[in-house]
Amino acid sequence: MSLLKVENLDVFYGDFHAVRGVSLEVNEAQTVAIIGANGAGKSTLLQAITGLNTQKRGAVTFEGKDISRMRADLIARAGVTMVPEGRRLFGSLSVEDNLRVGESTKRKGPWTLQAVYDLFPRLGELRKMQSSTLSGGQQQMVAIGRALMTNPRLLLCDEISLGLAPKIIGDIYRCFDAIRQSGVSIVVIEQNVAQACHASQHIYCLLEGRISLEGDPRKLAMNDITAAYFGTEQHS
Ligand SMILES: Nc1ncnc2c1ncn2[C@@H]1O[C@H](COP(=O)(O)OP(=O)(O)O)[C@@H](O)[C@H]1O
Ligand SMILES: [Mg+2]
Repeated sequence: MSLLKVENLDVFYGDFHAVRGVSLEVNEAQTVAIIGANGAGKSTLLQAITGLNTQKRGAVTFEGKDISRMRADLIARAGVTMVPEGRRLFGSLSVEDNLRVGESTKRKGPWTLQAVYDLFPRLGELRKMQSSTLSGGQQQMVAIGRALMTNPRLLLCDEISLGLAPKIIGDIYRCFDAIRQSGVSIVVIEQNVAQACHASQHIYCLLEGRISLEGDPRKLAMNDITAAYFGTEQHS
């Protein structure tokens, strides 16, 4: 069953038409990846789903309910949570206090402090540390943990691997299975095409605000994905 359905979404910044007629679907316990070059409209698309961009038209349905006109805080309370690009932690607060920020939605579910520490044992060891002193990878784990503390049904991750070492990226993506098994669907924006294909059951490629390709990454040819990503013609 589809958890999230976006139909014909347009998003504007003033006169600028950033997202153009985008339709996508996320099923229960599925990971969906969104790829595309810088400026393609990936972040704008996720922000529109979470209610952050109000200049839009089209339908956004979550758990069968139209959320396209709902306030951002109510969308969060309904179970849609973003891990924002750049993490946006409270640097002067401890790891644990940052995680507790996620309790603000007051949603019940399996994700507690202990469950986050079981997922990322290193965070348990660092829980009293000021989060600004952590490495980039550890900060990303805090950002994901904080989002899980809201007990979402849908987790939207914007560029979670940006600037991180390959080993750390592997560690982060490995936890996606456990997150999905807890009943959470995931949408991830990923610049690394191979990583996106590996981590997801369905990918969407955005090019200048439009979906240029979509499908099961195991069935798509790498040539076609590259062409859709860069907007180049195929010569094979
Ligand atoms: N606040 C804004 N005001 C005006 N234009 C914006 C704003 N945010 C993004 N844009 C423009 O919208 C387009 C899509 O941006 P964005 O969604 O951030 O792309 P991506 O996440 O794929 O890199 C880009 O051309 C960008 O310059
Ligand atoms: Mg972006």
